[in-house]
Amino acid sequence: MDRVFQFLLLFFIYVTLSNAADILQNPDFEIPPMNITENATSQLLLLHNKQNPIPGWSFDGTVWYVTPAANLSLPGNGHAVQLGENGRINQTFKGTDDYSDYILTFTLAAQNENCFNNFTAVNVSVLDHEYDDDRSRVFSLERNLSRQLWISYGFHLGSWGSKTDSINLEIMSVTQNLERNVTCWPVVDNFIVKRNRMPRWYEGNMIANGDFEIGPAVIKNSSEGILVNEESSSYHTPLQQWKILGTVKYIDSKHFKVPRGNAAIELFSGYPSGIQADFFFLMEKTYTLNFTLGDADDSCVGDLLVFLQVGNDVRNYTVQSNGTGSANSRHSVSFSIASEFSRDTSIAFYRFNETWASDGVLCGPVLDNISLYVLSSNSSSSSTKMELWYGGVIFSLVLLGMTTLV
Ligand SMILES: *[C@@H]1O[C@H](CO)[C@@H](O)[C@H](O)[C@H]1NC(C)=O
Ligand SMILES: *[C@@H]1O[C@H](CO)[C@@H](O)[C@H](O)[C@H]1NC(C)=O
Ligand SMILES: *[C@@H]1O[C@H](CO)[C@@H](O)[C@H](O)[C@H]1NC(C)=O
Ligand SMILES: *[C@@H]1O[C@H](CO)[C@@H](O)[C@H](O)[C@H]1NC(C)=O
Ligand SMILES: *[C@@H]1O[C@H](CO)[C@@H](O)[C@H](O)[C@H]1NC(C)=O
Ligand SMILES: *[C@@H]1O[C@H](CO)[C@@H](O)[C@H](O)[C@H]1NC(C)=O
Ligand SMILES: *[C@@H]1O[C@H](CO)[C@@H](O)[C@H](O)[C@H]1NC(C)=O
Ligand SMILES: *[C@@H]1O[C@H](CO)[C@@H](O)[C@H](O)[C@H]1NC(C)=O
Ligand SMILES: *[C@@H]1O[C@H](CO)[C@@H](O)[C@H](O)[C@H]1NC(C)=O
Ligand SMILES: *[C@@H]1O[C@H](CO)[C@@H](O)[C@H](O)[C@H]1NC(C)=O
Ligand SMILES: *[C@@H]1O[C@H](CO)[C@@H](O)[C@H](O)[C@H]1NC(C)=O
Ligand SMILES: *[C@@H]1O[C@H](CO)[C@@H](O)[C@H](O)[C@H]1NC(C)=O
Repeated sequence: MDRVFQFLLLFFIYVTLSNAADILQNPDFEIPPMNITENATSQLLLLHNKQNPIPGWSFDGTVWYVTPAANLSLPGNGHAVQLGENGRINQTFKGTDDYSDYILTFTLAAQNENCFNNFTAVNVSVLDHEYDDDRSRVFSLERNLSRQLWISYGFHLGSWGSKTDSINLEIMSVTQNLERNVTCWPVVDNFIVKRNRMPRWYEGNMIANGDFEIGPAVIKNSSEGILVNEESSSYHTPLQQWKILGTVKYIDSKHFKVPRGNAAIELFSGYPSGIQADFFFLMEKTYTLNFTLGDADDSCVGDLLVFLQVGNDVRNYTVQSNGTGSANSRHSVSFSIASEFSRDTSIAFYRFNETWASDGVLCGPVLDNISLYVLSSNSSSSSTKMELWYGGVIFSLVLLGMTTLV
């Protein structure tokens, strides 16, 4: 029995990993452009559209092939491309038969500290010719978000199933500031498209992705985590099932202290920063919400205040962190719905204050392992109790999906 379980687990891990690989060709530009002679004294090589095609990619405008040197660090220190005036690169990939979320991870870098604060920016867009479901977002380098001169971002490209064979990912340089400084043109690298299966619910847990195992691909050589930003189109985020508030950092267990599994989130930046999801609750039932708060072992010191909001009821928790990963507390809240009708209600975890590590980089408390169970009718539990009363009704497609499964 154990063997079978182990086999299934390994198989599952294999399938999960294989989904992350090989959707894009030459994702990190390690296959060099054609017809170039690499010159050790020159870190930037201007590419000619006709003579120096980049395997896997098309490009247009001013594009340089970058060999990292003293001025430029990148995760893994491989090659990259820099997008100059009107510089753009694009690659088309195919969807598969299974309807899935497609999540992009990529790295944006600059050569110089002075390029931070919005000098260096790219517009990432995806054109889906068949569904006409285009998305785009501008990403820029801002100070205090990273210890390096680069930042890795996660972005939800879209959700596609069969017959989708022309999803065009395009990245172009953006001049957000009037000042043009050639050293500040964006450098991009490490494009990983990960295919995440649709949410699955286990053993009565109403939360499908409460341990954040379903998220953006992590970059092997990066100890900076992946930043995930708030999106206006709510639930289309790299953190399946969750809407993002502000910016959260997706952290992996190899480089951070993670309470459970391979990943967790750090409530990172913004007023507020956090996550939110809507649930459909039935009246006269009692629900139990359990979750873990901790610190990421990233020198984030302080009394870090986290708010939990269920409906209109708010309570707070303090994570006492000395920045070494020792803070780790499990919490449990039970609540029941006291209203005429069953309602869609949101559950949110967030914080309002920002915290900086001693080197000036933002940081925050860690959230992981959230579960939500319905207890039997009118039972009460030993844990703290909330009574909820509601005003408005929140509609959510995610919820409709959940109710059919729960
Ligand atoms: C390498 O680059 C330097 C400066 O850009 C140039 O002077 C030199 O001729 C180049 N060498 C080769 C072999 O292309
Ligand atoms: C590479 O350079 C050679 C000689 O200049 C040329 O014949 C060939 O077409 C070039 N290859 C590409 C892909 O442009
Ligand atoms: C790289 O750094 C050196 C000194 O560290 C500096 O002289 C040079 O201008 C820098 N190059 C760029 C492109 O920023
Ligand atoms: C880039 O986009 C153009 C259309 O805008 C397309 O024809 C081309 O095939 C794309 N390049 C790649 C490598 O997919
Ligand atoms: C960078 O740009 C964003 C939006 O364009 C803005 O919200 C932010 O305040 C800017 N940051 C700085 C440091 O200028
Ligand atoms: C980003 O690119 C998309 C697609 O080309 C475009 O529709 C959008 O306006 C661009 N956004 C910005 C801020 O330039
Ligand atoms: C570009 O930025 C570098 C580094 O901050 C600075 O030394 C240089 O003067 C800037 N150039 C211009 C034209 O602003
Ligand atoms: C946190 O909750 C306690 C009661 O549990 C309350 O007294 C306190 O004002 C709350 N703090 C904040 C900052 O909301
Ligand atoms: C941090 O706190 C933990 C648990 O309270 C303690 O064991 C550890 O020594 C502390 N580390 C530092 C550097 O204070
Ligand atoms: C949730 O926490 C409560 C109180 O600690 C505990 O009794 C219950 O077993 C937990 N439920 C789950 C599913 O972890
Ligand atoms: C958090 O922010 C609030 C208002 O923005 C402020 O009043 C409070 O002092 C801050 N708390 C901490 C611990 O910095
Ligand atoms: C942000 O980073 C800069 C440069 O590292 C530092 O001077 C500044 O103090 C930091 N900001 C905060 C609020 O720590």
